[in-house]
Amino acid sequence: MSAIAPFTSDTPFDQVVSDIREKGWSVTDGFFSPALIDALMADVEELDNAYMHQAGVGRKTDHQVALDRRRDYIRWIDPETPARTVFLDAMRDLRVEFNRRLILGLWDYEAHFARYEEGAFYEKHLDAFKGKSNRVLSTVLYLNEDWQSDDGGELILFDEHDHNQAVGQYAPLKGRLAVFLSEAFPHEVLKAKRTRHSIAGWFRVNNSIQNIVDPDQ
Ligand code: OGA
Ligand code: MN
Repeated sequence: MSAIAPFTSDTPFDQVVSDIREKGWSVTDGFFSPALIDALMADVEELDNAYMHQAGVGRKTDHQVALDRRRDYIRWIDPETPARTVFLDAMRDLRVEFNRRLILGLWDYEAHFARYEEGAFYEKHLDAFKGKSNRVLSTVLYLNEDWQSDDGGELILFDEHDHNQAVGQYAPLKGRLAVFLSEAFPHEVLKAKRTRHSIAGWFRVNNSIQNIVDPDQ
């Protein structure tokens, strides 16, 4: 079996890099190949809720399941299937490219599948708090076929200075990729009216060893 190609000739790398440089966030469509999106969707659809867990809120030390704040099921992504392996390899290549072009010093990437069942949401939050986390750049990739305008589940991004001012509202359309600075942009997920699948991920820095050279560079 030949490997799935993660990108296409139209992958909007330059758009994402310039968006991040200019405003700190980016939402593009068609970043990954349809073949990869389909394979990732097939992977997550095969996962029964029994193999996922109810997501929590907070840092490792005070992690708790907070059903009033978020209601999604997650499963961390490891290279267990061809699609997950291709995705993680693609994100590693992207990390190297972001480091080269944006000097972010990103060290690694972690990601999980997320399933929002009908009625699930995620209240407004930041993915990282200054000095308290090593998450620098958040990514959310949407996998949903035929998402309709009344299916809910939109991602709302808020202004980095005025946290009450929305700067964008995006339906979780198949192949759509959101990228934003983790400490700067609050965001929320509106109530989904049908099952909604995404992959949320974070490029991180290594706070303890920031001065040594990244082996991938
Ligand atoms: C998250 C998150 C957004 C989304 O998991 O932290 O904000 O649209 N997800 O799924
Ligand atoms: Mn988030």
